[in-house]
Amino acid sequence: MAETELSLIFPQRFGDSVHGRLPGDHVLTSIAVPSTTPELKTERLLLRGWRASDRGPFAAMNAEPQVVEQLPAALSRPESDALADRIEAHFKMHGFGFWVIETVNTEFVGFVGLAVPTFKSHFSPAVEIGWRLNPKHWGQGYATEGGRAALEYAFEQLDLEEIVSFTATENRRSRGVMERLGMSRDPADDFDHPQLPPEHRLSRHVLYRIDPPRAPLVSGVRLV
Ligand SMILES: CC(C)(COP(=O)(O)OP(=O)(O)OC[C@H]1O[C@@H](n2cnc3c(N)ncnc32)[C@H](O)[C@@H]1OP(=O)(O)O)[C@@H](O)C(=O)NCCC(=O)NCCS
Repeated sequence: MAETELSLIFPQRFGDSVHGRLPGDHVLTSIAVPSTTPELKTERLLLRGWRASDRGPFAAMNAEPQVVEQLPAALSRPESDALADRIEAHFKMHGFGFWVIETVNTEFVGFVGLAVPTFKSHFSPAVEIGWRLNPKHWGQGYATEGGRAALEYAFEQLDLEEIVSFTATENRRSRGVMERLGMSRDPADDFDHPQLPPEHRLSRHVLYRIDPPRAPLVSGVRLV
């Protein structure tokens, strides 16, 4: 994809631009990032930037058997911290990322947000939406509520033209979030995840896509 097309995906909306690399050999030259992490508020949640105090609950979540059932492996504390480092670096590079989500009483719920996938695929370059919640917060619609806010930010603030989401075929809960968000799947888009061996139990993935809404969103999400 040519740089001009990339700049359609990542239009210049903020002051200072940064240079980076997208999956494959695409040079990212046109995106500009805000100096602070944007925060989003929904009816029940705050989506915010990462703090040092998030690292403990994040590691606890990443070690939960229920959480890692649909992920390649549980993470050790250093692996979990390294993932938090990568998420923070992503915010610095792109101006968006996987936000921490917390409840009104400031309890750490998990993360939801936007990211540029690190692997090359038939749908790259792309921006994905993703989520991971502590199981004690499953079944309350938090992933869907946070996901709606992230989608609204992607389309209304970043002017992105499409958001994708992907997960192991068997990940019913994650697919449920995608479907509640109005994302749709074409089986022709299914793929084997290039970062997993083909024989891995989670290798086969489904891809969901969503375009910007034709009318403005009215979810009540506000930037704080
Ligand atoms: C994927 C994951 C975030 C989904 O969590 P979830 O709680 O099932 O999803 P939501 O927050 O959207 O909640 C939906 C559930 O809450 C219920 N619910 C209750 N109140 C609700 C509300 N106000 N709005 C929407 N749903 C609500 C829904 O009926 C649904 O219930 P169900 O589980 O019986 O179908 C979670 O399972 C997870 O973290 N998994 C591990 C990590 C992972 O797999 N991440 C994705 C990798 S690609």
